[in-house]
Amino acid sequence: MKKLTVLGIETSCDDTGVAVYDAERGLLAHIRQTQLIHAQYGGTVPELASRDHITHLLPLIDSVLNKANCQAVDIDGLAYTAGPGLMGALLVGAAVTHSLAFAWQRPCIGVHHLEGHLMAPFLLQDKPSYPFLALLVSGGHTQLFHVRNFGDYECLGESLDDAAGEAFDKVAKMLDLGYPGGPELAKAAQNGDPHAFQFPRPMCNRPGLDFSFSGLKTAVRTCWARETHNDTNKNNIAAAFQQAVVDTLMIKIQRALLQTGLKNLVVTGGVSANWYLRERLSTMVSTDHINLCIPDLELCTDNGAMIAYAGCQRLLAGAHDPPHIRAKARWALAECKGNL
Ligand code: KG4
Ligand code: ZN
Repeated sequence: MKKLTVLGIETSCDDTGVAVYDAERGLLAHIRQTQLIHAQYGGTVPELASRDHITHLLPLIDSVLNKANCQAVDIDGLAYTAGPGLMGALLVGAAVTHSLAFAWQRPCIGVHHLEGHLMAPFLLQDKPSYPFLALLVSGGHTQLFHVRNFGDYECLGESLDDAAGEAFDKVAKMLDLGYPGGPELAKAAQNGDPHAFQFPRPMCNRPGLDFSFSGLKTAVRTCWARETHNDTNKNNIAAAFQQAVVDTLMIKIQRALLQTGLKNLVVTGGVSANWYLRERLSTMVSTDHINLCIPDLELCTDNGAMIAYAGCQRLLAGAHDPPHIRAKARWALAECKGNL
C-alpha cells in the first residue's frame, strides 16, 4: 500500500471533528468537540455553529497533529466534508482545508458526509467485508444501502419525512429532557417501562424499505398532552418511543437482509450509539448468523476520523479537488458513484 497520511476535517453540523489517518498504520489520532452553545436554544443554530467552528478549528488541528505525533510536513493530503450539511459550517471546513492544502502544497479532497459514516466501521480492528447492507441512522438521514464496494452505494429505502435522530431530538425537546436530545432521551428510557405506553411502528405493515417517523412523533405529542407531567411518565414515554423506533429499524433491517440475501451488516450514524439499538442488534446477529460491524461509540456520531478514512481512499485512487472550495448543502450520495 502507498504511504499516505491524511488530515481529516468535519464541520458539517455542530461537531468540530479532526483526525489523522494513515493508510498503513490506521487512525493515529482524532478529536471531536461538540458545540454546547446550542443547548440554550434547544437545537442547532446554524450561524452559531459556523462561528464556533471558526474559533476552534485551527487550535484543534494543532492539537490533533500533536496527538498523532505529526508535523505539517508529515501530512500527505487533506480531506474535508464538502456536504451535505449546514452551508456556513461546511464553508469553514472547506476554506480552512483548501488554505492549508495551498500553504502545504498538498492535495485535498471534499468528502460526502454519508460516505464518511458508511466507512466509519473500517476504522475497527475487525473491518466489514463487501458487499454489505448498511443502515445509516443519524440526525439528518435514515437510509438503507446495498454497499457493493467503496463508491458503489445503492439506496434501498429511506425516511420520507423525519430522520430517526431528528425524531429522538424532537421528542426529547417535547419532554424537556435537555440537549443534545437523542442521548438524553436514551438515558431517560433506561429508567422507564417501554410497555407503559403503546406507540405505532410506522410503515411496517406494508411492503418496502422506506421509513416515516413524523407520525410517531405526533403520537408521542398527543400522549404527553394527555398525561401528567412527571418523571415517571417522561421515562416511560421515552422508553416506549425508543422501543417503537428500534422495533421499526429492526423490522426494516431484517426485511432488507432477506430481500438482498446479504449476510454482512453495518449500522452507523449518530443513532447507532443508542444502547437499546445496539442490544437488539447483538441479539439478532447471534441468532440469525449475520456479521455485524458497528463503529465504536465515539465514531458513531460526526467525527473527523471517518472523513480522513474516506478521503484517504479517494486520494489513494488519484482523486483530488480542483483549486477551489466545494460545499454543497444538499448532495445525494448516489452522485459519488463511480468517482473512484
Ligand atoms: O451522525 P450524527 O452525529 O449527525 C448527523 O449526521 O446527523 O447524528 C446525530 C444524531 C442526533 O439526532 C442525535 O440525537 C442522535 O444522532 N444520537 C442518538 C444517540 N446519540 C446520538 N440518538 C439516540 N440515542 C443515542 N444514544
Ligand atoms: Zn453525521
